[in-house]
Amino acid sequence: MKLRLTLAIAIAVASCSPKVKTDVYLDPSKPLEERVQDALSRMTLEEKVAITHAQSKFSSAGVPRLGIPEVWHTDGPHGIRPEVLWDEWDQAGWTNDSCTAFPALVNLAATWDRELSRLYGDCIGQEARYREKDILLGPGINMGRTPLNGRTFEYMGEDPYLAGQLVVPYIQGVQSNGVAACVKHFAMNNQEVRRTSTSSNVDDRTMYEIYLPAFEAAVKEGGAWAIMGSYNLYNNQFNCHNKRLLCDILKGEWGFDGVVVSDWGGCRDDDEAAAYGLDIEMGTWTNGLSGAASDGYSNYHLAKPYLERLRDGRASLEGLDDKASRVLRTIFRTSMGKQHFGSFNSPEHYAAARKIAAEGLVLLKNDGTLPLQIPQGGKLLVVGENAYKMMVVGGGSSNLKTKYEIIPLEALHEAFDGKASVVWERGYVGDTTTDYNKVVTGQDLSESRSAEQLLADAVASASDADCILYIGGLNKSKGQDNEGTDRADIVLPYGQDTLIEALAATGRPMVVVNISGSPVAMPWAPKVNAIVQGWYGGSESGHALVDVLTGVVNPSGKLPFTMPIALADGPLKTERQYPGIKEEGKKWWQEYYDEGVFIGHRWYSSKSIPVQYPFGHGLSYTTFDVSDVSVKRAGDGFKVSAAVKNTGSVPGAEVVQLYVSDVESSVERPVKELKGFEKVYLQPGESRKVQFTLDRRALSFFDAGSHAWVAEPGEFRALVGTSSEDIREEVPFRL
Ligand code: BGC
Repeated sequence: MKLRLTLAIAIAVASCSPKVKTDVYLDPSKPLEERVQDALSRMTLEEKVAITHAQSKFSSAGVPRLGIPEVWHTDGPHGIRPEVLWDEWDQAGWTNDSCTAFPALVNLAATWDRELSRLYGDCIGQEARYREKDILLGPGINMGRTPLNGRTFEYMGEDPYLAGQLVVPYIQGVQSNGVAACVKHFAMNNQEVRRTSTSSNVDDRTMYEIYLPAFEAAVKEGGAWAIMGSYNLYNNQFNCHNKRLLCDILKGEWGFDGVVVSDWGGCRDDDEAAAYGLDIEMGTWTNGLSGAASDGYSNYHLAKPYLERLRDGRASLEGLDDKASRVLRTIFRTSMGKQHFGSFNSPEHYAAARKIAAEGLVLLKNDGTLPLQIPQGGKLLVVGENAYKMMVVGGGSSNLKTKYEIIPLEALHEAFDGKASVVWERGYVGDTTTDYNKVVTGQDLSESRSAEQLLADAVASASDADCILYIGGLNKSKGQDNEGTDRADIVLPYGQDTLIEALAATGRPMVVVNISGSPVAMPWAPKVNAIVQGWYGGSESGHALVDVLTGVVNPSGKLPFTMPIALADGPLKTERQYPGIKEEGKKWWQEYYDEGVFIGHRWYSSKSIPVQYPFGHGLSYTTFDVSDVSVKRAGDGFKVSAAVKNTGSVPGAEVVQLYVSDVESSVERPVKELKGFEKVYLQPGESRKVQFTLDRRALSFFDAGSHAWVAEPGEFRALVGTSSEDIREEVPFRL
């Protein structure tokens, strides 16, 4: 803080006085590369090395002698992490660092709305800048390969096109505030089980078609200033210093000029760290430096061991200059770039959080029971722990300390005040923890009743209820939506299926809200009247949910992943595929992506496997017609257009989705792939034309042999609809 102030004053004085000439590197009006070269030319070997590794849990050094400030990193991606102790994960106990908690990224993905993604990025970027953070550790865009992945809630779903489209505006929004978005976790980091000891072995076609495109979009279109290497290995080399991923693809093929930051403790080898594309090493000995009891940071792979290698010629000086340039570039783009001051906890940020949370809620089923219609003086019975449990705290590194969190029950009491009585029954006991890294919710979740009693109490209370509103699902405890652990199955925990069945058997109208960050099985779906997929919605989650339940907001969210009937229906059938196997002579666990490009909806639709709710599905309180699909040649590619009309009686939004099918292909391709979507808001009776552009890449598969995207001539089909399975019109065209 002090250093930055001094710097600002120095620059201000220099620019006011005609006699003082500002050094190039200090002058934000000078071209970036001139500043980098100028600073680099003034730095000693030791100073260059010093900026390539951490100096505390969340900061890396600057160059104090030159007035170049240190770099402050923060999680990300759902809000600005509370300040932590210098070497610890635990929060430091500041009283002015409670942030706006934005909805989980999976909730953002469910909006299918590029502008909301930009708004999210802009708001969180402002919060980061206000808190003087330079690198925001997010967003995460790993693909939903298995629904069991504990971090599914922190990612943007199972489709590379959807994630790529949404990550770009998020990055641009963040970076417009002079904060670097650090896109994570690069790459093929699709599970938490043994995340630091498993090699993802993936063929090139699968990697380029499924696991890399969102990162490629983040770099090439989003202009991301930072990328985080992941914990796992790819082809038996750790990803924080993986030559193929970082040097050949990221910095080579994609021309990334930003900084590669290791995941915390993800750097594992002296020689590789020096040679293979890592620029800032963070979090080594993440347990508070016990791996280096004294002077831990100097013993980082990119500290003393690196210095020794540079001095005796085992590491190259050009390599060091490249790393240092990337760190300097980051500093000149952020804290020493154009001045931004940011803002924190503003009413606008809470309004944005509420809007995004609501727009991402997905109405899975509705027979007209929603929006809720409770008679004056009637009774709404709310059942389930998630109506009450605060969810911002927990889950791993995305854990936040927020200024406030509106729980669903509180929002329901507000909405029905003076109209109907809202009665809550817990129904089951899930997770009673109320703190994480010393961030506490202050709730008391202890319970003395038995599971049988809880169920009996809920069922008894249903007898005179006008409607049962069940709010359950997962939470962020271990083995659920939680960093470091995966789930064991997609079945709801804590006996919730039995409880839901028992409540449905009372015959009262029943709405189920499933709050989770990942897919769950819903065997009771046919027996309830309506189902809403809710998410970890952040500070305003309760308000957002109740806005949709009461019809203040017409739902328009769409599933960013498939909701399967059972785990066994999915593409991962063997231990080789998941969670990996031990092999003779190999040091690390081995995992093989044998399913190739067939994950998520690509798998289910190609194999004609029925699902509970398909990718892209989501209903509204109104209805839409999609018609008049046409395909026209446009230059090298095609233009697809369609008409969408609101045929119901209330305003609402539909996401028109374009899938492409390659009918004649020399390789096996998914029966359809998402290649375009537009979210359209329409008044009753209003219609609009939507247009999509298909370039050659959109028609291509990745050919590993020639290492190129190949669009084969022949017949294709444009499939336009409102989910991956609800295709309204199909039009053939030829390339
Ligand atoms: C997580 C990252 C996070 C980092 C810093 C790691 O354990 O994988 O996503 O940004 O910690 O908290």
